[in-house]
This record gives sequence, C-alpha cells and structure tokens, in this order.
Amino acid sequence: MTDENPTAGPSLDTLASLCKRRGFVFQSSEIYGGFESTWDYGPLGVELKRNVKQAWWQAMVRERDDIVGIDASILMSPKVWEASGHTANFNDPLVECKGCRRRFREDELEAGAACPECGGELSDARQFNTMFKTFVGPIEEEAATAYLRPETAQGIFVNFENVLTSTRKKLPFGIAQQGKSFRNEITTGNFIFRLREFEQMEMEFFVKPGEDEEWYQYWRQERLDWFVRLGARRERLRFREHEAEELSHYSTGTTDIEYYFPMGWSELEGIAKRGNYDLTQHAAASGKRLDYFDEPSGEHIVPYVVEPALGVDRAILVFLLDAYEEEEVRDEKRTVLKFHPALAPVKVAVLPLSRKETLAPTAQKVADLLRPHYMLQYDDAQSIGRRYRRQDEIGTPLCVTVDFDTLEDDAVTIRERDTMEQVRVPVAGLLDAVGERLPEIG
Ligand code: GAP
Repeated sequence: MTDENPTAGPSLDTLASLCKRRGFVFQSSEIYGGFESTWDYGPLGVELKRNVKQAWWQAMVRERDDIVGIDASILMSPKVWEASGHTANFNDPLVECKGCRRRFREDELEAGAACPECGGELSDARQFNTMFKTFVGPIEEEAATAYLRPETAQGIFVNFENVLTSTRKKLPFGIAQQGKSFRNEITTGNFIFRLREFEQMEMEFFVKPGEDEEWYQYWRQERLDWFVRLGARRERLRFREHEAEELSHYSTGTTDIEYYFPMGWSELEGIAKRGNYDLTQHAAASGKRLDYFDEPSGEHIVPYVVEPALGVDRAILVFLLDAYEEEEVRDEKRTVLKFHPALAPVKVAVLPLSRKETLAPTAQKVADLLRPHYMLQYDDAQSIGRRYRRQDEIGTPLCVTVDFDTLEDDAVTIRERDTMEQVRVPVAGLLDAVGERLPEIG
C-alpha cells in the first residue's frame, strides 16, 4: 500500500459475516456445502438490491428524456455472439498447475510466476472462452447450442431498430437495461466481487460519429457522481484509463471507475467507447439495416456508442463497504451501516418500549400509519438498547419508539441512526416528521 491509498473498509470476512447474520447475503446451496462463487440475497439483501437498481434506473431512465429502457431475454440467437465477436474473443488466458491442478488466469499472475497455491510449475496459457454453453430443446447437439448472455449490451444492439422506430428518438439517445449475465470465470472469490452469475446495469448511448469523445467524458463524470451522491466515499474512487493492450475487442477507449476494495484498487464500473463496432457487425451478419436517418443532412449514419456498464452485485459490495462503521458508544462497540436513506433496506423501525399488552395496539397503529409509505420493521423482542443496535447494524435510518407516555400524550420518539439524537413528535405529525428526515424517498 502506498501513501496515496485511502483507508479501506472492513475486511470482506467481517462484512460477509454481518451479511449472513443479518440476512443480506447467504452462500448459495449452503446446506450442500455451497456452490462456488454463487450467492443468494436474503430478506434485507433483496431490498438493498432493489433499491440500488431503482436508484440507477431513476438516474439513468426516469429522470432523463434521452434514455429509454428495455428488458431483453437472457437466451439469444447464437448468431448474436458470432457477430458480436464473443464466440471468438471472449476469452481469458488459462494456466493450470502441473502439481495441484488448480487453475488461474495468467493475466492475474506475475510473469513467470509459480503456482500461488503450492509453488508448482504452471502450464502454458490456453485461451478459455468464458461464455456458458447450453442446449435449446431436448437434443444435446452442436446445432442446438445456445449461450447464457455474458453481457446485457447485445440485447440492446439487436433491438436498436425496434427501439428507434417505436420511440422516434433523435441522436443522441440511450437504451438502458438491467439483468442477469453469466461468465464462466476462471478465478472467483472475494465475496460478491466476481461471480459466475451476476446482474448488470448497462446503457448504450448512441451519438453522431465524432461526438463520442465528448460524451465519453460526460458519462465518466456522471457515473462517478452517481456513486458519490448515494454515499460512496469519493476518496475510495478513482478513474483508470485502459492501456491499448487491455482494451476489449470492441473498445477504442475504456475507463474503469476503480474502488479501493479490501484487496486493493479494482474495477467497479467500466465506461467504454464502442465506436460503431456492434451495429456494423450485426448489420453485416443479419443483412438488416441498423443505422439512423439524419434529417438535416439527409444521410444514413451508423451511430457511435458510449457505454457505462456496472455490476449490481459489485455496486452493492461498495455501498456495504462504504456504509460500514464501528464506533465506541459509552464503552460499547456500535456497528452501524450508514446507508444513504434511498438504499437502506428498512427505512423505519417501530419499537414498542416494552412487550406489555398495553403498548402493543398503539405501536401497531403507529406501524400501520407508516407501512404504506416506507419499508418498515416492527420489533418488540429484547431490550430497547439491543433493538437500536440491531437496527443500526442493518442501516435503518429512523427508529420510532412507542412508550408508556404515548398512551397519555399521543406522541412518539424518533431516533436518528447517524446522530443517535432523539426528538418527541405527536403521532398526528409523524408521517410529515419522517418525511422531512427521509426527503429522498417515499
Ligand atoms: N458490456 C460491457 C461489459 O460487460 P465488463 O467490464 O466486462 O463490460 C461491466 O463488465 C461490469 O460488470 C464490470 O465493471 C463489473 O461491475 C461487472 N462484472 C463483470 N464481470 C463480473 C463478474 N464476474 N462478477 C460480478 N460483476 C461483474
């Protein structure tokens, strides 16, 4: 680590253990010993994931009139992957240890390195295509081969003409998509950082040739700002421009937004200039015209593309790492996830001070008042202190406590997660008071 590096968040083990304990992320097929590099989202994880996807969709589609969304299938004609170059080029260099038979990506090892596991000699590299193959229909034959998509982007390119004619969009405009992608990665690990089944949020922005550099700069900054707006720590983010030899087969320029993960700087999101590569390839392979009629000039042009591409799971990992804090409060350790309220899985917890029957009906009424508006938890188990700690640990921004005075004064206490400050508000004004404290959701 150099002096310039920021401090990293908690270790991945610490985070994974909190995620399991509180129901964010579970190992897939755990009762059978797990299944390598696949993870399941639990009751809180699924809320967090929906919120992250919703925040992206809001910023990329709903708040703009130059981007529309689609939802294409995971299974597509294998001709798509021939034309896009994935069948020929979507390869990683695979080396195998001649001793322990473990496999590694050669480009992740030092030149001439021995096996990182046992020190044995490594084989020469061979190119390994990371697309998952399957068969469509009952016969497992070459002609029935199909692939699980390795990126969502191609579903956008092959629908370019459909979207253009149905929406009558003018350049520049974008098409956005969220959905599962699959890669038969050689090396996985680091919790939910690199998975074989993951979700992507990608947007292809179509521009006039010659305008792509300007839009590339624009989207780099827009995407970085999106993370910061949602609570990511600016000092743990940086841009890294790809060297020419690193570029994907379709790219004429790529910037990674990198994040300082516990294992070091690594890619969080990629912003690529794809030129007119994909539309040209699909037009040639399909024989269909995939271009844009530019009325002012009377010319048909093949738009250039700028693509911001982000993994949902990787974004979730970053928001978890950046939210995580451990604090000393009255000689006790407080673990708190300081999520941006829009991302927090639970927005408000309603906590009756005691389990006594006298409080329960009033506390339930308070919960019923808030539940239609906010994701809510009702918790009456254990001491109030422990319940606050539990809500802190899952990142709930507000707790509303119903106590015995509530029965007299019809007021409740709102406790804020970050400051731990408490204020008394009348139940009649509770919805407004919560709304003021959670302005960006509702
Ligand atoms: N369409 C371009 C594309 O797919 P990429 O850099 O290969 O580009 C985009 O992937 C993003 O998808 C990455 O920045 C990362 O956030 C996420 N991603 C890629 N492979 C992943 C994997 N195996 N597990 C989790 N996320 C992954």
